[in-house]
Amino acid sequence: MSKHDSKFFNTFSVVIGVLVAITLGIMALARHIGDPFEQARAEDDKSLRAAVAERTAPTGPVAIAGKDNSALAIVASTAGGEAPKAALPANGEETYKSVCTACHAQGVAGAPKFGDKAAWVARLAQGKPTLYDHALNGYKNKGVMPARGGNPALTDDLVKEAVDYMAKAAQ
Ligand code: HEC
Repeated sequence: MSKHDSKFFNTFSVVIGVLVAITLGIMALARHIGDPFEQARAEDDKSLRAAVAERTAPTGPVAIAGKDNSALAIVASTAGGEAPKAALPANGEETYKSVCTACHAQGVAGAPKFGDKAAWVARLAQGKPTLYDHALNGYKNKGVMPARGGNPALTDDLVKEAVDYMAKAAQ
């Protein structure tokens, strides 16, 4: 080997050595920082699964296909199976404002508008008993007036008072 060649060989060996050392270093580093991430992922996964299971768990008794589910009917009928009774409006005006206004305030779907005399004159001419009847039992002519304005919990008196309230405003 010439002097020049051996110098090149020495330098080249050092360069290769440094590159190998860097490669090993990076591999070691990758191993080192790879681990905690993997663990964190696994933990995430565990707590995520637990959280999902908790949120998707049934809140009450569940019917199971192919099993005797008759006990569920008893649970449903004793433990609030009936829809909770909402507080009823106090009078005709409140009934109008909480139920009837949905359609009658703006005249939705052919409903005679509140206070619109022209829309009410022919209806009022039918007489109160007819109006009460239509409000209580529903009425279908140009549009659809649902029975009790769609709220079956309303008492007869409340519906009638609401009719009175609307009729008075349209006179
Ligand atoms: C979902 C919409 C809607 C709600 C809610 C509603 N109405 Fe009506 N109502 C109508 C429509 C539509 C008409 C017109 C029906 C027609 O002429 O075919 C009507 C008509 C009426 C009439 C006139 C009936 C007639 O013989 O001309 C009365 C009285 C009446 N509603 C009372 C009430 C009362 C009281 C409530 C609340 C308890 C109520 N409505 C809630 C849609 C509604």
